[in-house]
Formats: sequence, C-alpha cells, structure tokens
Amino acid sequence: MTLISKIDENNINKEEIKKQAEILREGKTVIFPTETVYGLGANALDEEAVSKIYKAKGRPSDNPLIVHIYDKKQVNQLAENINEKAEIIMDKFWPGPITIILNKKDIVPMRTSGGLDTVAIRMPSNPVAKALLEEVKLPIAAPSANISGRPSPTKGIHVYHEMNNRVDGIIIGGDCTFGLESTVLDLTNDVPMILRPGSITKEDLENVIGHVNMDPALEKKEDNIKAKAPGMKYKHYSPNAEVFIVSGKTDDVANKINELVDNNSKEGLKTVVMCLEDNKNKYNCDTIVLGESLEEVAMNLFSSLISADEKEYDIVYSEEFPNKGIGRAIMNRLLKSAGYKIIKA
Ligand code: TXA
Ligand code: MG
Repeated sequence: MTLISKIDENNINKEEIKKQAEILREGKTVIFPTETVYGLGANALDEEAVSKIYKAKGRPSDNPLIVHIYDKKQVNQLAENINEKAEIIMDKFWPGPITIILNKKDIVPMRTSGGLDTVAIRMPSNPVAKALLEEVKLPIAAPSANISGRPSPTKGIHVYHEMNNRVDGIIIGGDCTFGLESTVLDLTNDVPMILRPGSITKEDLENVIGHVNMDPALEKKEDNIKAKAPGMKYKHYSPNAEVFIVSGKTDDVANKINELVDNNSKEGLKTVVMCLEDNKNKYNCDTIVLGESLEEVAMNLFSSLISADEKEYDIVYSEEFPNKGIGRAIMNRLLKSAGYKIIKA
C-alpha cells in the first residue's frame, strides 16, 4: 500500500510531511515534488533503502543517483575537496535546479554513487521538498519518479498513475515549474563540465565561474555511449507513441507535417503535433500547445509526451527549438525522446 498525501505548497500540512518523513526514516521510498520533476526518494546513506529505488524504477544500478539536501552544511558530510567554484555555484544557484558533482566521502555508499567515487548533490527550492528534507534530516537520494525509460513526471496525477503501489509514499504537490531535470555540473576538474543541460544554462554558469565545458558526448547520438553522466546513455523519455522532430522554416514544417498527417491517417495512425501557441492553426490535425516561450516549452514538454500517450496517439511530431540557452536542455530531451529521428522539411 502506498500512503498518498496531497500537500499544498502554499499551506504545508506538517502532519502529512511528518508521516512521509517517517516512512523515509524507516528505509522506505517516498515520491515528492521538486521544482524540476517529481523525485523518487530514499535514505541516500542506506544501501538497502537505495536498492528499493532501483527496483521501483526498474533502473540499471550503474546509474548514480542525485542526493538531495536542505542545508549547505550537509555538503561537508557527503563530499570533499569542495573548491571555490563549487562554493560560488552553491551560493548563487541553491536552492534551485542545479546538481553539482564532487568527490564523495566514504559515508556515501557505492549503491548511491553507482560505483563512482564522486557524488551528485542538489538543494531543491520547492517548498514541499524543502519541508520534507528538513523534517527527515537525512540526505535523500532521488532520481526522477518515472519507470526507467519513460518521460519524467511533472504533474501529481501522472506520478500517481505511473507509480502508485510501486513505492511506500507519494506526496502529490503542484506542477513542477521548470519541468526539465536539473543541470548536472561536474566540479571535480579544473574546468567545470556540464554533463546534463538544464534550466540553469551554460551562459548563466559562465557569468559567475568563467569558462564551462559541455560534455562532448551530448552532441551526437553515436557519442551518447561515452557520456560522463551514466544516465545520459540510456533509452530515455520515450512515450509509447513514436516521436519525430520536424526541422526547417515554420511554414515548411507545417506543410511537411500536414502532408505526413494525411498519409498517416490513410494508414489508420493517429497523429498529434507539439507546437508553439503561435503556430497551432497551421496544422490540419490535433495539436498539443507547448507554450509561448522556451520556459513554457520546458515546463510542459514531459507532461505533453505523457498526455499524448493517454490520448493514444501513434505518432507525435514536434517542432524544433533553438539549441541555445534553455533550448539546449529542451532539444537534449526531445532528441532522446525521438530516438534522434529528425525529418527535414
Ligand atoms: O532535477 C533532477 O535532477 C531530478 C529531481 C528529482 O531532483 N532528479 C533526476 O535524477 O533527474 P536522475 O537520477 O533521473 O538523473 C541523475 C543524472 C543521471 O544522468 C546520472 O547519471 C547523473 O545525474 N549523475 C548522478 N551522479 C553522478 C556522478 N557521480 N557522476 C556523473 N553523473 C552523475
Ligand atoms: Mg531520470
């Protein structure tokens, strides 16, 4: 049985937080909202508890987990060789959607770090996540709360449908405001490296710590296998529908898609287009509007992929987004979800 708690982030029910924190202290699993995506948590220092996360997700166990904290002091318990750039990042962006990789201390079990001698740490800003972490007073390992390979959930209802009875507790909060997982930044070398792009962009980071590299493996499908963040190499964000990105000038994209939709419907395939608000009237088929800005697209991307499945579409065509700023994180997730299939208009 899963204990379900509905918690309003503007009026936090402390009794419910206490019940869920108690479940975590017993070495069990609790799903909670964060500002990026929902996380599936367990005590990061307890190997047996961490094993339950891998089991609930069906996740390969060489894929390391992010450890969530509520107080900067916890970093010293978990990591060593904390350099000046790390201090700057923590001061400037925490609590918030960025994870830093540091050298781990022995207290962090290999199960949590996926066998690596480094540890990923993040301090979330979502008020429900903060309240839970503060109540439990333990570092909590939490990957995204989806079954391995599926899109990460950003809405309570999606989490409930996918994970009820797979975990011991679920906290249903509001929708996640960023919608894409945190930026992962490796700070164990002289020049920091982004292992996973997110809402805190390369440009944001370079403004405060100078030059930052991108993991070169992020650029190409063939190189994914070499990714430094083990999680980046697996099949990811895949709905049941087949996803394609259609690339080109706006009107060419619309014409191309309308042509494809006609062929699909002759074959009995249900198609939907994920697009910007401004473009929705250009398509002769169902659309899912991702938003008006790139921030909105980021927030709505995963929930749109999940709702395409709920409505049983066979094919999803997505517009392409500029590969800079937050668009880099959007395109990273979209390309994976499309298995890197791009149709040129
Ligand atoms: O926004 C987020 O980061 C969400 C919420 C719940 O906090 N969590 C999340 O966790 O996305 P997960 O497990 O789905 O993704 C963690 C990513 C994976 O790509 C993993 O390989 C990488 O971070 N990672 C974790 N520890 C690492 C380490 N020590 N070295 C390199 N990469 C690491
Ligand atoms: Mg994930």
